[in-house]
Amino acid sequence: MSVQIDSDTTILKLFLGIGVAVILFAGPYLLERLSELRLSRNLISRYPIANEKWDAEAKKKLATSAETIIKHGVALARGNPFLLNDKSATRLIIPPKYIEEIKNDKRLDFHGYVSKQFFSTYPGFDVFNVDQTIFQPAVRVHLTQALTLTVEPLAKEAPNMLKLVYGDAPDWKETVLISSLLKAVSRLTSLIFLGEKFMNCPEWQQISVMYTVDAFMAATALNNWPAPVRPFVHWFLPECRKLRQEVKAARAFITPEVDRRRKELAMNAGKPRKKVLDSIDCYTLGFAMSDLAEHPEYVDTLREEIKSAYTEEGKWEKTTLFKLRFMDSFLKESMRYHPHTLFTMPRQAKTNITLSDGTMIPNNTILAIGPLLMSDSNVFPNADKFDPYRFLKLRETPGAENKHQFVTTSPEIIVFGHGHHACPGRFFASNEIKILLAHMIMHYDWKLPEGQKSIQHNMNGTGRSPNSRQSILYRSRKPVVEM
Ligand SMILES: *[C@@H]1O[C@H](CO)[C@@H](O)[C@H](O)[C@H]1NC(C)=O
Ligand SMILES: *[C@@H]1O[C@H](CO)[C@@H](O)[C@H](O)[C@H]1NC(C)=O
Ligand SMILES: *[C@@H]1O[C@H](CO)[C@@H](O)[C@H](O)[C@H]1NC(C)=O
Repeated sequence: MSVQIDSDTTILKLFLGIGVAVILFAGPYLLERLSELRLSRNLISRYPIANEKWDAEAKKKLATSAETIIKHGVALARGNPFLLNDKSATRLIIPPKYIEEIKNDKRLDFHGYVSKQFFSTYPGFDVFNVDQTIFQPAVRVHLTQALTLTVEPLAKEAPNMLKLVYGDAPDWKETVLISSLLKAVSRLTSLIFLGEKFMNCPEWQQISVMYTVDAFMAATALNNWPAPVRPFVHWFLPECRKLRQEVKAARAFITPEVDRRRKELAMNAGKPRKKVLDSIDCYTLGFAMSDLAEHPEYVDTLREEIKSAYTEEGKWEKTTLFKLRFMDSFLKESMRYHPHTLFTMPRQAKTNITLSDGTMIPNNTILAIGPLLMSDSNVFPNADKFDPYRFLKLRETPGAENKHQFVTTSPEIIVFGHGHHACPGRFFASNEIKILLAHMIMHYDWKLPEGQKSIQHNMNGTGRSPNSRQSILYRSRKPVVEM
């Protein structure tokens, strides 16, 4: 293994990045956390603006009708880029036809941009310093190589985890979907990354769940202050102090473990490490469980597939997961159907750029790709309909068998990004999501509260997220196959 994660800072960054990482790559929050970059004359003269007047009313309008505003921008631009006033910045929205051209363009900065937007130079916000030299290779190489080793321990722990989070439910019980999933995911990820001791440590679990939430609250609090005073006020804001305390506490937990591993590493030099880490996408799982609760007619098909895959393989392995083709299609459709954001691939230009067709992007422009092809009926017929068989059918086309998998990125589905900056944790996240989902539906029945037919998810401006207050009912069942 070429990258060893043996510094406590790196581990801290990576682990506290649970959720944060995937949310970052998905980007909705990112789109909100912009610095005060107002229209430069250079841009105004070149491109039409979707929502010109930027006042209190315009802000409210964007929060409630972002889609209509974007449609207006698209109509004005006629296939070319347009400008959108979004929260505290003006963004250049570039049509999807440029995805392939810009995806690996080094003149368009991603990491520096993220770091800056999340105050990563302030203590407590350290995890947002997604330094390319540490973060990406560590996750990509380390995680991807050890991927197969994670399936079995995840599957072994899943039933215990379900018992702890959901427990026995001979009669219907009610819980809040997203917060229960956060607990489940945090437990499994702790096991894979740090081992049993951490998984069973309630204080650690508390920190790892809370940090994600608190980091966003602290960033919001800091954003309410004018830029010049932030380097001072961050020392005093209660939200930032809380964050620093959490990082300090996390460090205290992790340092002894790192020391232990350094010694172990010295003794086992060259042996592949079994422990890996990453974040899982609570959003993806949250949306998928919501879709399943809204469409109970697909549960039996999923159960049958799990049963036959597990029976054929006799245990949980990478190959078992590969056989869950309907589940894979279901998850991908859920992801397509619920875009986390109306734009993706946020970047900032580091210099003046001229694209191949003459389109000019001035230095410092903040840009993103939109509107998404995922919601375009020309690309996905009946795009506004949830069809869990959609990608399964596409995979039946000869030559396209592996093209439409959940983890495959393409210009049409860029939730995980695309190109060099595509989320490197998606392979692990996919395994974790599938194992968790399989166990959840084999061990329990799920349904919406009495009288509810569908779930209203959160929409705010250009961001979309699962409804965090949604309750769900569950009841224990005997799995159709002993797993
Ligand atoms: C782009 O703008 C930034 C900030 O204003 C500046 O530091 C940088 O040198 C500029 N790049 C070029 C190539 O001029
Ligand atoms: C970028 O473009 C602007 C306006 O077109 C120009 O004034 C500036 O000199 C250019 N900067 C570089 C580094 O080419
Ligand atoms: C949308 O976001 C703004 C600020 O980010 C917040 O004040 C508002 O309550 C949010 N609205 C909804 C419906 O969540």
